[in-house]
Amino acid sequence: MKLDIIAGARPNFMKIAPIIEALEKVSDKIEYRLIHTGQHYDKKMSGSFFEQLGIPEPDVNLEVGSGTQAEQTGRIMERYEALLLRDPADWVLVVGDVTSTMACSIAAKKLNMGVIHVEGGIRSNDITMPEEINRMVTDAITDIFYTTSEVANENLKNLGHGTNKIRYVGNTMIDTLLKNMSRFNKPEVWNTHNLKEKEYFVMTLHRPANVDEETQLKNLIDEIVKGAKGMPIVFPVHPRTAKMLKGIGIQADNLYMIEPLGYLEFNYLVQHAFAVITDSGGITEETTVMKVPCMTLRDNTERPETITIGTNELVGTNPDNVAPFMKKLHEGNWKTGEIPYLWDGHTAERIVEDLLKV
Ligand code: UD1
Repeated sequence: MKLDIIAGARPNFMKIAPIIEALEKVSDKIEYRLIHTGQHYDKKMSGSFFEQLGIPEPDVNLEVGSGTQAEQTGRIMERYEALLLRDPADWVLVVGDVTSTMACSIAAKKLNMGVIHVEGGIRSNDITMPEEINRMVTDAITDIFYTTSEVANENLKNLGHGTNKIRYVGNTMIDTLLKNMSRFNKPEVWNTHNLKEKEYFVMTLHRPANVDEETQLKNLIDEIVKGAKGMPIVFPVHPRTAKMLKGIGIQADNLYMIEPLGYLEFNYLVQHAFAVITDSGGITEETTVMKVPCMTLRDNTERPETITIGTNELVGTNPDNVAPFMKKLHEGNWKTGEIPYLWDGHTAERIVEDLLKV
């Protein structure tokens, strides 16, 4: 079997790392090629993850760089198709829901390759999110789904996909988390700001709904700063958010805005935090496994099990919603949560075992 593994943006890298590690053990049976689309290209958004997670250098980098949704999609499709025409593969394995996931699936499927989607089937039902479109399009042309939850399985069955295509294996992002927990590394900000165990917040914001509009971003941050009651808020700022923040000039004594962190440093901070405030999806899975309270600043989630089973609560994007959740946190009334079935650190092994039968 000749298999292409696609990675393009930050949340892909922790998902492919354990799959590649498991594939290395069966290199006599499955020949794989790692393709980086170059959607994320900074050391801080990409390179440091390869280094810290021991991911080998990509065999090919399509170097598509920044652009609008359509520009990035178009460039990835053109360049990946050209590669496949020169040097075809039998299957493409894509992960998650970023632009690279969708673009490579389309290019491959149109050349009659098989498409494997890891983390298939999840849905926010919010079509204003580019990620939701990426999920829908990718799943529509996927041949094998490796899923993270029962809800994903149900979504796929309701869409008419046969149960023979759906394989509930767990969560490869959690494989990476559990494998690296003992290596988590105290970042510099811990000492420079004298952080104390369980006495600070970690915040990340990058969704267009929260960060692309000045007043929304300002009001949200103001409410969070107020609700933190003086407790430090460590805020590693995504490049998209940084561009916006420059113009607003937000400042507060307890708000520490820093550069994006490496994987080991970011998760050290999360593990020891009082609570996390985020609009990311993946982080809600990590906080669930680390049993850290998590407030999600979105109106919906494609990962409902982080709420029904885990430590996550959906706060919404309305800044007025922040205060009651903050109160609950400060009063010590947050749920402790459980870990979803099969989020056990062995998902990539199950995937590769299954791939050997394809
Ligand atoms: C993308 C993903 C999102 C994921 C997020 C994690 C899509 C549709 N969205 O959103 O699902 O949660 O990544 O980060 O695929 N930039 C840099 N350096 C980089 C990469 C980007 O400065 O290495 C800048 C770009 O120039 C752009 C901005 O950051 O202005 C946003 O990057 P982009 O890849 O377009 O989308 P994200 O918002 O990061």
